[in-house]
This record gives sequence, C-alpha cells and structure tokens, in this order.
Amino acid sequence: MDSPCKGGKATDVAIQHNNPSYPPLASIPTGGILVHMSIIENLKWRYATQQFDTSKSMSEADLNTILEAGNLAATAYGLQPFTFVVVNDETKKQTLVEPAYGQTHFAHNSALIVIAIRTDLDEAHITEYIERMAKTRGLDVAMLDGFKNMMIGDLMNRTPEGRMAFAQQQAYIALGTMMAAASELHIDNHAMSGFNPDAFNEILGLKAHNLHATVCLALGYRSADDAWQNYAKVRKDIKDIVVTI
Ligand SMILES: Cc1cc2nc3c(=O)[nH]c(=O)nc-3n(C[C@H](O)[C@H](O)[C@H](O)COP(=O)(O)O)c2cc1C
Repeated sequence: MDSPCKGGKATDVAIQHNNPSYPPLASIPTGGILVHMSIIENLKWRYATQQFDTSKSMSEADLNTILEAGNLAATAYGLQPFTFVVVNDETKKQTLVEPAYGQTHFAHNSALIVIAIRTDLDEAHITEYIERMAKTRGLDVAMLDGFKNMMIGDLMNRTPEGRMAFAQQQAYIALGTMMAAASELHIDNHAMSGFNPDAFNEILGLKAHNLHATVCLALGYRSADDAWQNYAKVRKDIKDIVVTI
C-alpha cells in the first residue's frame, strides 16, 4: 500500500487549492504534508481541558454556534436520534460530579452539554421525520414512502439495544462536530463519557422524556493553572493511521 502522505511541493498547492476563500495551504513542519494550517492549528490547540477558569463565561453566541454545529452534524438517514441537554442549573451540575466518579470538570465549566439519545426510536419518530422532510422540501409525503419503509425495515428489525447503539453512534458524530466548532472559536472543550448514565438520567429527569445520557461536553476557557495544556499531544504518525488502497 502506498503512503498517502507524499511531501508537498509548490505545484501541489496550485493544484489542490481551488477554493479562493480558504487560507493558504501550508505544510506541517514535521511531516512535510500539505494541510489547511488554520484547521490543524485549532485542533492542535484543543486539548481535554481538566481545569476551566470559572471566572470566565462564554458568550451566548458562542454556545449557540456550537449547538447549531451539533444540529448540523451528519447522522445516518438524517434521523438525529438525540437531544442536546444544556445544564445551566449549578446545583444539578454539582450533583453530577459524584456519579462522574469525582470528575470536577463536569461542574466547573462555563457550559455543560449532555448529549442524550432517544430511547423511543420507533415508527412514529421516523414518520415525524418524513413529514418534516416533505414539508421542508415541498414534497408530497407519499414520494418518501420508499425511504420511510427502508428506515422502518432497518431500524425496527434491530433489537432495542441495537437501536440504542445506532443512536449512540450518531450522538458521537454530533459530539465531534461540536468539539471541532468550539475549537475553531477557541472555546476550550472536554468530551466526557466517564459517568454513570442511569444516575445522570435520574438527576436530569431524562427518562420521563425517553432520553438516555450518552456523552457530555464541557465548554469554557482553560485555567492558566491547568497543567494539561502543556502536555504534548500523543497521536500516531499520520503515515501509520492512513492507508491508501
Ligand atoms: C468520547 C470521549 C470520552 C471521554 N471521556 C473522558 C472522561 O470521562 N474523563 C476524562 O478525563 N477525559 C475523557 N476524555 C478525554 C480523553 O481522555 C482525551 O481526549 C484523550 O486523552 C486525548 O487527549 P486530548 O483530547 O487532550 O488530545 C474523553 C474523550 C472522548 C473523545
């Protein structure tokens, strides 16, 4: 198999860079590969923030942008089988620390989003989606019967656990999209799945809404005292994680 990462040359820039609104391509000093440097810089800037500066609050516009990015995330069939639960209640946030095995960054942040999957992914949910699609695109709902029946055939033939696994996969795509958006805005972020979901469901009253806490995202501004920001990223060499067939 070929390495996908050949060294970039000046001519490569002209060939690959066909979007004039993007900043110029640059090569990463270590790898010599061509990349859009601002995206990579922002992703390198991001780290799993352990300690937020709680004296700083993120703006409503920043939070809304990150939530909208999550809403725009791709999901299988476009079903979006989840809800973003923004926990503003400080007392509730504190209560989450114990079932998160003492991880204080669940409470000490500027915003906490719990991505909760739907546990009632049924035919009614699919029908609602199809009707919304028809309305949004100005289509006769009957035109979407084939698509609807395919989704029903796929999802209703799975076990309840299989449907939850499906929903969880989609939740993680929204998580990644929100993390990337936050990093573009230089809003610090920390994804967290180390918690007892049943306890979170109970504290946040999720079960009554057919929701199940799946993964959390803490947002805010890194504390100058957070030693983790100084640790080098541990990642595979790009040549060891990408293959071209
Ligand atoms: C889905 C997910 C769940 C995570 N859960 C936790 C967690 O519960 N507690 C924690 O301290 N870090 C958690 N992390 C952070 C990872 O440990 C961290 O992202 C990883 O070590 C890479 O470091 P970096 O994000 O600083 O590059 C989680 C990350 C992801 C993506």
